[in-house]
Order: sequence, then C-alpha cells, then structure tokens
Amino acid sequence: MPTLLSLPDDILIKLALGESVLEAARRADVPIACACGGKAKCSTCRIWILDGADGCPERTALERTLVERLGLGNNVRLACQLRPASDITFRRLVLDETDLRMTSQLLPHRSTSAGELKSVVIFFSDVAGFTHFSETLTPYDVMYLLNRYFTQVAEVIELNDGYIDKFVGDGLMAIFGVKGQDDAPVRAVNAALQTLATVDRLKPFFATMYGIDFDIRVGLHLGEAVIGSVGSPGNERLTAIGDAVNVASRVETANKEAGTRLLISETLYERVKGEVEISDFIRVRLRGTSDRISLYEIKKLKVEAERRLNEKGARKTMQLGGKTWHRTVATSALKDGDHKVIEFQALYVVILRRGGRVHAFNNACPHLKLPFFESTSRTNSHAGQASTLTRTARWCVAGITADSIWIQAKS
Ligand code: FES
Repeated sequence: MPTLLSLPDDILIKLALGESVLEAARRADVPIACACGGKAKCSTCRIWILDGADGCPERTALERTLVERLGLGNNVRLACQLRPASDITFRRLVLDETDLRMTSQLLPHRSTSAGELKSVVIFFSDVAGFTHFSETLTPYDVMYLLNRYFTQVAEVIELNDGYIDKFVGDGLMAIFGVKGQDDAPVRAVNAALQTLATVDRLKPFFATMYGIDFDIRVGLHLGEAVIGSVGSPGNERLTAIGDAVNVASRVETANKEAGTRLLISETLYERVKGEVEISDFIRVRLRGTSDRISLYEIKKLKVEAERRLNEKGARKTMQLGGKTWHRTVATSALKDGDHKVIEFQALYVVILRRGGRVHAFNNACPHLKLPFFESTSRTNSHAGQASTLTRTARWCVAGITADSIWIQAKS
C-alpha cells in the first residue's frame, strides 16, 4: 500500500485501498480542513505535494474546475479528490499558529471558523448617486443620512431573519439562510421590497432636509458560499465568501444600466417565482463574466406570500442584536402615556409608553410583591409612579417598531 507523509505533522499514514488523502489523513487524526465535506467546493483541504507529484493521478473534473478558477499551482492538490497510487509527501497549507487555531476542531466556533458551505441568498444594496451626495453635502450630513437610512434598513433585514454582514460606505451586504431557513429566498425578496418601501418613506424627509433625490439599488442572488468567521481572535465576524457574493454584487450593479431598483438572479427567481410578480426581465452579461444571464425585476409579492410573511401578528418572535424579541401589542393600541398589563412567560408584565419610548417591567413590587397595576389597560394618573418604579423593578426590555411593541426577557 502507498504511504503518505504529512508535514508539518510528520505523520506517516498507510493508505487504504481507494482512499483519498483526506479520508486517510482524517483517519490518522491529521487535522485537514474540509469545509465542504469533500465536494471539491471549498479548497480548504488543499495540500502542497513535496515529493511524488509525478506519480499522482490526473485531477478529477471537479478538482480541475476549482483549481483552475483559483489559479492554484501544479503541485497544489485537493486532498479530498486525490487518491494516490504511489508514495507522496505533502504539506498541509494550514501552516501557522493562527490558522491552526482558527481551524481547530476543538474550538467552540470550529464550525464557522473553518467555514461551512451553504446555500444562501446574498443581498447587496448601495445608494444611487452617492458620490454626488458626498461631494455636495457636509460629512456630518452624509453621516447622519447614512445612519438614518441604515438604522431602518437593518431593522427590515433582521425582521426577515437576515444577517447583516457589513456596511461599506453607502453599501450594505446581508445574508439570508445562514441557519438553513427554508424560506430564506422569499424572505430576502420580502426584505428587499420592504427596504425600497422604507426608502420611499425617507425620500420626502431627505428632499426637504438636503434637497436631494435619495434612492438605492438592490441586487439578490441565491448560490453557495462558505459561511464562516473572519477576523482576528476576539474580533471575528460571520461572513460569506465565494462566487455567490461576487455575483450578487454584480446583479446589484446591473440595476444602474437597466434603470431598475431591484433585480434578482435567475437562480433566485427559480426558487421564488411562485411567490413573486415581476415587472420585467433583462438579459445581461455580468461584469467579469462571458455568459449572458437573465435578471428579474421584482414588482411585489403575490397575495398569499405577502399575507403569510407580513400579516400583522404572523410572526411572534424576531431575532435582533442576538436576542429573541416577543411581539406583544400593536403600536397603535398603546398611546403615549398608556400602559397595558400582559401575560408573558407565566408572569404579568406592564408595558408602558411614554415620551416616544416604551418600558416593560414585572407587574410586582420587588418588596411586597404586590401588583403595580390591575391586569387591564388604562390611561391614568399612575403613569408617573410607574415610571419611577421601573428604575428598580424592570426586568424586561421593550422595543417599538412601526406596527408592534416587542419585549425580551432580561436575565
Ligand atoms: S474538502 Fe472542500 S475542496 Fe476538498
């Protein structure tokens, strides 16, 4: 049987019949990364053949495709695809301490540190004519404008189970489906439509404040990307790496020439076509590619999808800032100065709205455990008293969106 010498581990492995280098190395506890599970998609199992390269078999079609796209050298092989027939010596291309720590299977974040290949929707947006704004407005105005826009859009993304990857200047990148949610494609489209609606509501404000016609462009693409943590230890952030990201960015850019605001790729359209209405489609050659592809301009969701995703009260919880928020009462049902007592996780909780803010706290005095309020809503003169008591008795955190008031338990 051929033998493999793995460096820098200096481990000699006897290859079993038909085994790949990856399979043999893992059997011998050599920690070769394999983010895609051996499907020739991630290239994290790449090794450098130091000796015996001439006796290695030809690359498989899958390996050739990936290696050519990445421009890897002749002696760099994918361990998951290579099944040697004679002895080889190889060096893993995870060579230094930082790489070892990031890919170690003993670390708690090992699944994301090494990365996982997932089917996700990548969302890209940017501000139309941003260069002109940034040249004509003061930096403070630009900062204010971007923050006001990003704050509202971030809420839309997170309400639709999206993950905000990064803000770059006027651009935003988000990922839908990080946790493998089945409805990520249609939720991404929903988020894009709601983002545009948010911008439409902001337009008159920006026009009055700065005399500008504020607008954005959004591009979405469904594809496979490696989802993993990137950054120095302690400063890692989840991100997506792969062709899908580049394609999504180019789809977003294609809006400019097409004169559209929201385009999605063909792969995403195939997944959501039963749930969306389109205005048009275009055939384009994306920047940096040779083939023409179809992009679809989304008009709106079909009635059933709209009802399922956006009906008030349809979603009882949402993830925001890493916390689970629970929908309570409609924003319109609680006027300024009002309070309501609700049942939440087997306790009575007071929700109080005052001065544009909402507060939530346990409806029990911390000393005598007597209720502050009866379990009915009212507008009354006790509001001032309750506001004082929240400073010592609050155990929930409340937040407000356009349609609902949300709370999260505070440990
Ligand atoms: S394990 Fe992903 S390319 Fe080999």
